Amino acid sequence: MPLLMNENGITTRTSFPPASIAPQSMMHGEPCTIVIFGGAGDLSRRKLLPAIFDLFKKKLLDESFRVVGVGIEKLDDATYRTMAREAAEKSEEVKFDAELWAGFEPHLYWQGANLTDVKTYDGLEKRLTEFEAQLPERKRNRLFYLAVPPPIFHDICHSLKASGLAPRQDAKKARPWVRVVVEKPFGRDLASAQALGKTVLDAFDESQVYRIDHYVGKETVQNVLVLRSANAIFEALWSKQFISHVEISAAEKVGLEGRGGYYETSGVIRDMFQNHLLQLVALTAMEPPQTASADHVRDEKVKVLKAIKPIVVDGHTTAVRGQYAAGEIDGGKYVGYREEPGVKPDSRTPTFAALRLEIDTDRWRGVPFYVRSGKRMARRVSEIAIHFKAPQKLMYEPCPNEVLEPNVLVMRLQPNDGVSLSFEVKVPGAALALTPGIEVTPVDMSFSYSSVFGTDTYPAYETLLLDVMIGDATLFTRTDEVEAAWKLIDPLLDFMEKDPSPLPTYPAGSWGPTAANALIGQDGFRWRTPGDPPVAPTK
Ligand code: BG6
Repeated sequence: MPLLMNENGITTRTSFPPASIAPQSMMHGEPCTIVIFGGAGDLSRRKLLPAIFDLFKKKLLDESFRVVGVGIEKLDDATYRTMAREAAEKSEEVKFDAELWAGFEPHLYWQGANLTDVKTYDGLEKRLTEFEAQLPERKRNRLFYLAVPPPIFHDICHSLKASGLAPRQDAKKARPWVRVVVEKPFGRDLASAQALGKTVLDAFDESQVYRIDHYVGKETVQNVLVLRSANAIFEALWSKQFISHVEISAAEKVGLEGRGGYYETSGVIRDMFQNHLLQLVALTAMEPPQTASADHVRDEKVKVLKAIKPIVVDGHTTAVRGQYAAGEIDGGKYVGYREEPGVKPDSRTPTFAALRLEIDTDRWRGVPFYVRSGKRMARRVSEIAIHFKAPQKLMYEPCPNEVLEPNVLVMRLQPNDGVSLSFEVKVPGAALALTPGIEVTPVDMSFSYSSVFGTDTYPAYETLLLDVMIGDATLFTRTDEVEAAWKLIDPLLDFMEKDPSPLPTYPAGSWGPTAANALIGQDGFRWRTPGDPPVAPTK
């Protein structure tokens, strides 16, 4: 098998050209009509329509597929196609191709409807029946995507059930199938999540429901399990015996992007922690599942979520929050959160939080997990950093360096997704035997997806949409996961909402409030500056 060494010194086996790996080995989506409620909304334009176009470009869709955008907007098929084209041209994740677009466009349709009024679903039913009359029965599958704000979820579920458009079925066996994709947020607390869960499961069987968390569709996140299970050197060390702490960061440069109204009712804990970040914790900390089946993977994730110790105990919390004030990022000036459109001038909504979590299992007892996320931070970077313990005994002492930097395995989600591992080497120079102390320094071995597999990426929504079409629910969240996450987060939200102490602020363009440094500092560690080479702990 030929070997390829890239500029980072990483050697990969290349029995075929890397650029051709994905399309040839990816499964094709089963034939279906994709109905997007909120088909002209922000999510559809920014993510869904470009993702479906890219699946078409990669020839991963059946030639009979159709997309029907549904919503209140006054559009028709032609204007919807123009809107979709503009959205695809603007996409940062998907490369536009005018020639291929011409082949894609005739698959797009618009159906006007008031989503909260079941009577208006008649038009949609008529349209679907017309399409399906031209197809053999095995191709009459329906994929309903709820790309709408949560208050409308209930009405859509009721209407899909009442109109007969989406009959309840065991989607693992039934053909043609009906599958329903639900976007986050899955409620705003445990009680509303349970109410939403009940509505969804009154209308559909769990096997039909795909709760999407796009973080889990990111390439590196999927790779967490592979990295562990396919590499003995990692799985063997994946425990409290060798790991000192775990750091998970999701830092964003962006602010509210016109979503002030939504964010005021959400804040960073509901927006990022309850879903994306707890999913990352669960995937990092879970026991190896019995098999890679959706249920086995999700069973293990739920066990982790249930094993996380309460974040608020006796009126104290291991959490820090903050809100961004005015500041500069990369030379651009930004207003503070309270000056953003749609935000109350005295808002106490947190835009940053850092949590110290403990997982009460044999594998992790005593290993802190530090998790942080914020808007308007210095850089856009999301990563999971596994900090290994320092070796207990050094062969060569005294070491002129003040501290020996323990190994750090960094799984970078974005940008430049990949994996790096830092380790210590001897600084070239004097012979070992003759020197009383040797000089060592950390170096980084690094792999990036683009340098090995090319720049043709698989954005998260593309991967997840394809999974729904294939019927693989592994990367989707089950009801019990959603509820376990809310059970952990609810007391924290309650604590933060009642806490009268002043809300810490941080300047836009920084790494969050100073209190976040104290949170990790009390254990003798400090935050990595994500994206930079690893930093040593202070102890
Ligand atoms: C969304 C949040 O779920 O994730 C946004 O609602 C956030 O506030 C976004 O900006 C981050 O996603 P990504 O993929 O850009 O890191």
